[in-house]
Amino acid sequence: MSNQREHWGSKAGFILAAAGSAIGLGNIWKFPYIAGENGGAAFIFVYLICIALIGLPVLIAEILIGRTTQRNPVGAFKKLSGKPFWIIIGSIGVMAGFIILSFYTVIAGWSIGYIVEALKGSFSQFADPKVSSDYFNNLVGNAGWVLSYHTLFSLLTMGVVYAGVNKGIENGSKIMMPVLFILLIILVIRGITLPGAEKGLAFFWSPDWSKITGQSVLIALGHAFFTISLGMGAMMTYGSYLSDKDNIPIASLQIVFLDTLIALLAGIAIFTSVFAMGQDPAVGPGLIFHTLPVVFAKMPGGVIFAVLFFLLLTLAALTSAISLLEVVVAYFVDERKWPRHKAVIVFGFVTLLIGVPSALSFNVMSDVLFFGHTWFDNADFLASNILLPGGGLFISIFVGWVWGFDKVYIELKKGSETLFEKHPRIILGWKIFLKYVSPVMIMIVFLHSIGLLESAILQIRTNWVMISLIVTVIYLFINLKMRNNK
Ligand code: TRP
Repeated sequence: MSNQREHWGSKAGFILAAAGSAIGLGNIWKFPYIAGENGGAAFIFVYLICIALIGLPVLIAEILIGRTTQRNPVGAFKKLSGKPFWIIIGSIGVMAGFIILSFYTVIAGWSIGYIVEALKGSFSQFADPKVSSDYFNNLVGNAGWVLSYHTLFSLLTMGVVYAGVNKGIENGSKIMMPVLFILLIILVIRGITLPGAEKGLAFFWSPDWSKITGQSVLIALGHAFFTISLGMGAMMTYGSYLSDKDNIPIASLQIVFLDTLIALLAGIAIFTSVFAMGQDPAVGPGLIFHTLPVVFAKMPGGVIFAVLFFLLLTLAALTSAISLLEVVVAYFVDERKWPRHKAVIVFGFVTLLIGVPSALSFNVMSDVLFFGHTWFDNADFLASNILLPGGGLFISIFVGWVWGFDKVYIELKKGSETLFEKHPRIILGWKIFLKYVSPVMIMIVFLHSIGLLESAILQIRTNWVMISLIVTVIYLFINLKMRNNK
């Protein structure tokens, strides 16, 4: 390579950037409402198990691939395997980055829009959830409103990535993550000091085991993936800016801990407020945009807390979006030798454009359906339910079965010698989870997500996905066999 690859300036810089990628809309918008819908504490218990059993082992594997190869996902598989199959897996990761970013910026854009609404005092008129949800539908029904904030958020993301790994991503995360944490603590204190907050805490902490079904276990599993940014090489790319001095297992544990902590705190802040203000906790995805503004309208000092809340959500989304753009940029910088600035501008604008139909899915294009769903729903479905679990499955198969554990151990040991010497059982446990537990569990989530489809047209798509899955698995086995016979 012509110019020297950038590296994280410090261990804390990496942890904060990676935690920044993990902590996003998934933690603050999605986790509280799915916990709310699936029995609160019981669901959280299942979710924590999924994080530990799948999330942590796969996170270690992804970061390890990145650090070993010092490359983006495509370059990484090229270097480690060279087989077209694995290079395609890497490319799918880069594509998934484009797709997720294109709709992620739309929701993140709403969040910026809601900071402005909060500042304007729009929420004070929200006497009940009906007024609030009408107001929301009105806003997202306005193409100009959605597009402007989508564009604004995309430009912010580009700005940070443009500045580079150290100056942009690392420094940005070092400022944004502590601010995010402080904002969240303020909101938690506000929540638990409201009269009636105990009901919210009880809902969040006292398990209702009857709500735990096969379905909710699978939701917990799928979310574990999304929330740690696994399955498309984002953590691989961040890992590629690490050096051999860093302890990957410990860093991974810290990232997972921070991600889980923030999700739980967001849940506490939201449910204490929702219950104290007598709102319904199980309204689903609208919880943040429909229900919370009503809560803020009724709360003393509500305007300030509303601004803080949506600022928190925007910052969390921004540190995640930059990790998505960075995957695409790293690919063009490493593999195509593009200058970083050019890659950021070109692909920032490309994702901005791919995002336009997602932004219009709530207004002008709400009736334009593909496979019976809007563009936005398709993009979300394709990325979250197919590409991410699929990517995660192959990453664990690659590290668990293809790479060769002798080599894996040599790489993992760098920076974590003490762990290897003092706790060899932990390392053995990781190997077992990665080889057997994670792939099997991911497979279950994957098949389930596909099984979720209802209509006949979607059924065709299901078959198509099933066929490609089967072909891929067969190909993989032939590949492995040939390797073993060599
Ligand atoms: N983890 C982020 C969230 O919880 C979203 C995200 C960022 C992501 N980068 C990713 C999800 C890569 C999957 C893959 O909101």
